[in-house]
Amino acid sequence: MKQYLYGIDFGTTNSALAIFDEDSREITHTIIIPSLIYFHQNAAEGYVVGDAAITAYLSDNMKGRFIKSVKQILSRSSFTETRIHNKRYNAADLVAIILKELKSRADQLTGQYCQKAVIGRPVFFDDDDVQKDTLAQTRLQKAVTLAGFTEVRFQFEPIGAAFAYEQSLVKKENVLVADLGGGTTDFTYLTLEPEKANSKDRKSDMMANGGIYIGGDTFDSAFMWEKGTPYFGKNTKYEATLGKVLAVPVSLFANICSWEQMNFFNGLRIKKDMEDYYFFSGNDRKFKNLITLIDNNLGYSVFQSIEQTKITLTEKNEATFRYHQLGIDIEENISLSEYEQIISRDTERIANYLETFLHKNNIEPNHIDSLFLTGGTSMIGSIQTLFRNKFPHVKLNSGDNFKSVAKGLAYSGYLFEN
Ligand SMILES: Nc1ncnc2c1ncn2[C@@H]1O[C@H](COP(=O)(O)OP(=O)(O)OP(=O)(O)O)[C@@H](O)[C@H]1O
Ligand SMILES: [Mg+2]
Repeated sequence: MKQYLYGIDFGTTNSALAIFDEDSREITHTIIIPSLIYFHQNAAEGYVVGDAAITAYLSDNMKGRFIKSVKQILSRSSFTETRIHNKRYNAADLVAIILKELKSRADQLTGQYCQKAVIGRPVFFDDDDVQKDTLAQTRLQKAVTLAGFTEVRFQFEPIGAAFAYEQSLVKKENVLVADLGGGTTDFTYLTLEPEKANSKDRKSDMMANGGIYIGGDTFDSAFMWEKGTPYFGKNTKYEATLGKVLAVPVSLFANICSWEQMNFFNGLRIKKDMEDYYFFSGNDRKFKNLITLIDNNLGYSVFQSIEQTKITLTEKNEATFRYHQLGIDIEENISLSEYEQIISRDTERIANYLETFLHKNNIEPNHIDSLFLTGGTSMIGSIQTLFRNKFPHVKLNSGDNFKSVAKGLAYSGYLFEN
């Protein structure tokens, strides 16, 4: 019987699995799914995972429970469980649903119930907080067990990304890997050497790693703040008391700048406030938009439009931020330079972190032989410019932005040797 090992990259936005055939020592398949779960409104219909979750959520008119970015709750100690259809789900249960989906699709391809896997984890689940990091790791471990894996090793995601790149090398290199995903940006500095690809201990080749909690989702939030919230009442005035005209506190709009946060922004008190703003503004359409957004759970679809605008701007110098739903009408042209301005605070934070990372670890830029960029967010022009300007002498490499981590993990079978 053939022996397989699965490399699994459980990501904030996308999750991937690579199947490694231990006899031929080759990757035979890779599978990728969005990290999404949808619980149908009708309990009897259960739940669906991945692309099917988006389809079902939309066709159910967004009435069931849609779960996105589960990875981010791994490190959140305030999250203990959520009740769906009278069943309780803790963080590990939710993660396990996604892992099981990947595993069953892979098992169908291999024709086996494979229980051996190398699982990726970010360098930091939550900035530098050790306790939260441990909590996240423990929860992930539980999820992996629940999904049916018994022989398991963990590996840092950027190391996974680097190992896939190593397969293409012909000589030894000092490589800086930057993995820019949805939730986090991770850096790893390591030595890669084609002859070492299958050797046992690669720890000594890892010279440094670190990460920061900024990624493509952060850019989307910044975009929502600048370009979206004005359509929902930011900067719109209402008459608080007779003759006293005020703007709604801007802090309110921070609550609609991430889809997750918006999900919890629907208490009675908030609803009453929104109704009041609408009334006292003389029925300003923008407050109506805000009420429609919250009442109809439209957050995900707004963020899909924002993401689409971002993706268009990786290929064109101009895009239209377009959203038409239940009377909310957004149609706004945006230039690439304007977009880069919107995300500049976040890209600067990435640049500053990179600077600190190099300094703290005594890495001389001219000792770096090559740069390897991976993750969806590495496709953004100003991100690539940041690296080009910082290391003008170094070649910029990239692999498959969405699968290279999983592939590298699948090549990490050496972790099982003592
Ligand atoms: N063509 C593109 N241009 C720019 N950004 C993109 C593109 N395609 C996807 N993205 C963004 O990439 C991010 C997802 O990337 P990726 O799948 O690498 O993340 P992840 O591995 O799920 O997240 P993490 O590694 O942080 O856990 C999202 O923010 C998404 O909007
Ligand atoms: Mg990733």
